[in-house]
Amino acid sequence: MPNPRALPKTYAVKSFGCQMNVYDGERMAELLSHQGMTAAADGEAAELIVLNTCHIRERAAEKVYSDIGRILKTARAAGEPKPLIAVAGCVAQAEGAEIVARAKAVDIVVGPQAYHRLPSLVADAAAGRTALDTDMPAASKFGALPARRKVAPSAFLTVQEGCDKFCTYCVVPYTRGAEVSRPWGDLVAEAQALVEAGAKEITLLGQNVNAWTGEDAAGRVGGLDGLIRVLDRIEGLERIRYTTSHPNDMTQALIDAHGDVGKLMPFLHLPVQAGSDRILKAMNRSHTADSYLRIIERVRAVRPDIALSGDFIVGFPGETEADFQATLDLVGEIGHAQAFSFKYSPRPGTPAATMADQVPPQEADERLQRLQALLNAQQHAFNNATLGRRTRILIERHGKLPGQMLGKSPWLQSVHLQTDAAIGTLLDVDIVATGPNSVSGAALVSA
Ligand code: 5AD
Ligand code: SF4
Repeated sequence: MPNPRALPKTYAVKSFGCQMNVYDGERMAELLSHQGMTAAADGEAAELIVLNTCHIRERAAEKVYSDIGRILKTARAAGEPKPLIAVAGCVAQAEGAEIVARAKAVDIVVGPQAYHRLPSLVADAAAGRTALDTDMPAASKFGALPARRKVAPSAFLTVQEGCDKFCTYCVVPYTRGAEVSRPWGDLVAEAQALVEAGAKEITLLGQNVNAWTGEDAAGRVGGLDGLIRVLDRIEGLERIRYTTSHPNDMTQALIDAHGDVGKLMPFLHLPVQAGSDRILKAMNRSHTADSYLRIIERVRAVRPDIALSGDFIVGFPGETEADFQATLDLVGEIGHAQAFSFKYSPRPGTPAATMADQVPPQEADERLQRLQALLNAQQHAFNNATLGRRTRILIERHGKLPGQMLGKSPWLQSVHLQTDAAIGTLLDVDIVATGPNSVSGAALVSA
């Protein structure tokens, strides 16, 4: 354990992994600022470094240890004292005790459900006391977090956490706990605060976001569609998105919202993982390739231009070439605007990690390349199909070239364009060129 020292005055939060981690990272940063600390500028040394880790795939913990090594080396080279190091996120939750035992340089370990206690953990660590908190308290951390003051034009809002699905390959039910929905009123208030703080777009986040349920002010129980309809009425909020969904929670009411809620963007990230029903069963996905396709059909019926995205795992234990072919066939039938695909990674403690017939890594690599080639071609084709379209983009940041800005189309494409419009502007553009990963827009001269 470290010797007592002064409380840190500057901090840096480094988030890895999913968007929920990005959201948690932002909230930790706000919390530390609220305590009077300042965010260290890019490239500047911070007195407290929070590594907000991800445990979903390979070598997550190793990455944390090598990051710690790098932090120590940088401090030594600059002749500065060792910063306080906090490990947060899912690696902290899953391997907290091991981290404390193995990495003496780590001062704080804090799980994803306990980070509202970060200030007192920092105080403990500065006082030389062990600071480990991987509790999953019944009371939500959200009430203990400070209000949001300044946010990017596209902001995240966590509405639901945890997962009860127990896919056999996945650590999330163990690291993030059971499915919990945040209350309706809190979410509407936070969404309103985000808009007041500058958000034009809100992405509702959850490990199983479409499993969200809550009671409205009148005590009526509703699903995510109801929440989206309420948020749709917030003045100044222009766009709503949500991620990540599970096929089993894709209700007709939510599908219908895609047809008639104007602010709900035409984009759906709905992981299917694999195309073989035998593998889907072994994954405990509780849907089939065909039932997934029927959902897509229903979504397309109400919103023909919907952009589809998904997650895929190749090389799940027992996956044969024929099973993998079924994944390629399914992908061929869907037509993606984008997608994420991963090589199966055995996660300690999950049922799949001890299944027979683990696929040799070279075979899984080769399948991953074939799948990615197909998904990349589909993304390029999707982009090409938008050539010549007039659409509205949300400007999110500066591009690399002088005068260049980057925005997002309704279909979540990255759009480059030359404009002097500021970050946060919604701008009408024509899509004038398309590439594999992005498109170019030309701003319309306003009448
Ligand atoms: N191996 C590979 N990919 C995984 N995912 C989750 N667990 C694993 C694993 N053990 C992928 C799934 C999920 C996404 C967030 O990460 O595709 O949808
Ligand atoms: Fe993991 Fe499956 Fe839950 Fe998604 S639905 S978080 S893949 S267990």
